[in-house]
Amino acid sequence: MATPVNVALMGLGVVGSGVARALLEKGDVYARRLGRPLRLYRVLVRDPDKRRALPIDPAILTTDPARVLEDQQVHIVVELMGGERPAADYIRQALARGRYVVTANKEVMAKHGPELLALAHRQGVDILYEASVGAGIPIVSPLKRDLSANDIRAVRAIINGTTNYILTRMDSDGLDFTTALAQAQELGYAEPDPTNDVEGHDAVYKLAILASLAFHTRVPPEAIYREGITRLQGRDFRYARELGYRIKLLAIARRAAANGTEALEARVHPALLPQGELLAKVDGVLNAIEVEGDLLGRVVFQGQGAGAQPTASAVVADILDAAQALAHGRPPTPWQGDAELPLRPMTDLECRYYIRMEVADRPGVLAQIARCFGDHRVSIASVIQKETNEAAQTAEIVIMTHIAREADVRATMADVQRLDVVCEVGNFLRVEG
Ligand code: NAP
Ligand code: HSE
Repeated sequence: MATPVNVALMGLGVVGSGVARALLEKGDVYARRLGRPLRLYRVLVRDPDKRRALPIDPAILTTDPARVLEDQQVHIVVELMGGERPAADYIRQALARGRYVVTANKEVMAKHGPELLALAHRQGVDILYEASVGAGIPIVSPLKRDLSANDIRAVRAIINGTTNYILTRMDSDGLDFTTALAQAQELGYAEPDPTNDVEGHDAVYKLAILASLAFHTRVPPEAIYREGITRLQGRDFRYARELGYRIKLLAIARRAAANGTEALEARVHPALLPQGELLAKVDGVLNAIEVEGDLLGRVVFQGQGAGAQPTASAVVADILDAAQALAHGRPPTPWQGDAELPLRPMTDLECRYYIRMEVADRPGVLAQIARCFGDHRVSIASVIQKETNEAAQTAEIVIMTHIAREADVRATMADVQRLDVVCEVGNFLRVEG
């Protein structure tokens, strides 16, 4: 029997357990594909006495990172701990010691990806991170290889399963945000502290990785515009449906011009999507990533974007790939981030807008509001009066604009809010497509 490839896991939580189970239960299959066995050699955890979801030999468990990072017998280090630190430091140490690294860590790859890829290249090894975006959905590899003949024009994605579940329940079942979030937590989709998901940070990390790959440029997460889903109300979903749209948390990166030069827009926010679009039909915890290339046109990758087995699917594939590279000495992929595209400011975005506001229900109100729009060259496409509150003598109106510049729409909103006939601007959403 050929000598085994020794795999060390750092983390044995949801994903680590899925990966360990696949390595233990499908070892024969992987050994046949590889021509050498993959051996689960060591596993780093915080608490060695914790009850585990699978029978794991206690002799391979350790709480000492040096027993992974400094052991010459470890061939592939698989980081599945999560969080920025100490994960990024351990990955850096593993690469510096000439180990292949596999990770599912979007935060580390979004913040440190280019630096770690460059280090891997200098060391003649590689860092593979397919599971960091969309879990088991193949997207990192296709962007690196299968789509490389294209100039990518746009990436539009639903890349957070928790928020997509919440938005689907608010839309289909009329739940309010708090109830839908509580249900997502009961089902184990949302964490006890859901901030990372509902405020859009998780999607920003994933978009930073996708945009850097697709556009060969460094897109730091802090440069991406971000809005979460907490301001959405049930009525927004009802009105959007009446107008022919669904509301989704979209992560968008697109080539755009700024001051006559090529730039990139990168943003995460809820948006109205026409009901007929493929992305509008992606419901529940599913993820989908649409890529538009100059040669291929649009292609959509859809599937389960979280969970032990879907994520293990991508992590184990990366382990197999690293093992092949180790065996055959394939050169690592260099970091190809030389395009240096500037990011276009959000205020320069041009799209259509949905604006919901509560106003006094009396003659002349719409004329005052329309004047504010006109003063900032924002053209109104339609105005619909929705519910009226007879006791308070107020009405809710929904305004759809033609394509307008975000800076002009924001200036319009500021003026509208100062009118004494406007009680409040309830929501303001971008329309995509
Ligand atoms: P998790 O369930 O919280 O597991 C984390 C594991 O890491 C635990 O086994 C924990 O040890 C260990 N750990 C954490 N900090 C450690 C430290 N300082 N030293 C030693 N061990 C440490 O996390 P997860 O859901 O599996 O996620 C792992 C990674 O995969 C994250 O980067 C996440 O973003 C990514 N990911 C997750 C999913 C998913 O569906 N969950 C999907 C795609 C990507 P103990 O067990 O002893 O506490
Ligand atoms: N929290 C993420 C989501 C899963 O809800 O999609 C891990 O990337």
